[in-house]
Amino acid sequence: MTRKLIVGNWKMNGNLAANQDLLHAVSAGLAGAACQVAVCVPAPYLAQAHQAATHGLLTGAQDVSAHEQGAFTGEVSAAMLRDFGVRFAIVGHSERRQYHGETDADVATKAQRALAAGITPIVCVGETLAEREAGQTQAVVKRQLAAVIHTNGHCISEIVVAYEPVWAIGTGKTATPEQAQEVHALLRAQLAAATAHPERIALLYGGSMNAANAASLLAQNDIDGGLIGGASLKAADFLTIVAAASH
Ligand code: PGA
Repeated sequence: MTRKLIVGNWKMNGNLAANQDLLHAVSAGLAGAACQVAVCVPAPYLAQAHQAATHGLLTGAQDVSAHEQGAFTGEVSAAMLRDFGVRFAIVGHSERRQYHGETDADVATKAQRALAAGITPIVCVGETLAEREAGQTQAVVKRQLAAVIHTNGHCISEIVVAYEPVWAIGTGKTATPEQAQEVHALLRAQLAAATAHPERIALLYGGSMNAANAASLLAQNDIDGGLIGGASLKAADFLTIVAAASH
């Protein structure tokens, strides 16, 4: 990875007026940024984001259907996302796994649908606090990533992976740079066994990454960028993270 990748995950926040301000402020702040930057917005605002994003700001979705098309009320297909210029789709976010019962197999299929439509899936993996305390961190993230590798075969070098310890998401508790690096190194090794081009795959860290801690996390060998929730809703904070990733 040469250029880092910073992705905002707005989650279920925003409205037309506030989004417009945020999209303009973030876009305007990207002049001179030496990393890739994207925002994953709620589905109804994809068209707005696509139009308002300038200066290289890319857009993404927060989920994608595991189905191609048809009688799946409420679902949004990868092809529909593609129509709105979407470059990335988060898949398997822990909030989807937890509140919507998404399994490893579902996540693998969603990644496959995104890839088939030319969208880069950002595959989220991460352990809960109970799993970490039980010494299961490595086993959990390996199992989650293995499902995606198994289903996607040689396309695996086209994905992005986000390591997001569940206990660090929205809690203000960040993994230490060493804790994050340890898991990232493990994921990199797992990907290296599956593809000849593991270096093409950006490994993002997510979980309370903010303007103050981004630089030390991004300085780690195997941390290629960040997936940022709360701090992506404030242009100044998000742009500070972008600047930290631009060194
Ligand atoms: P957070 O969320 O930065 O608010 O912890 C990260 C995420 O859930 O992607």
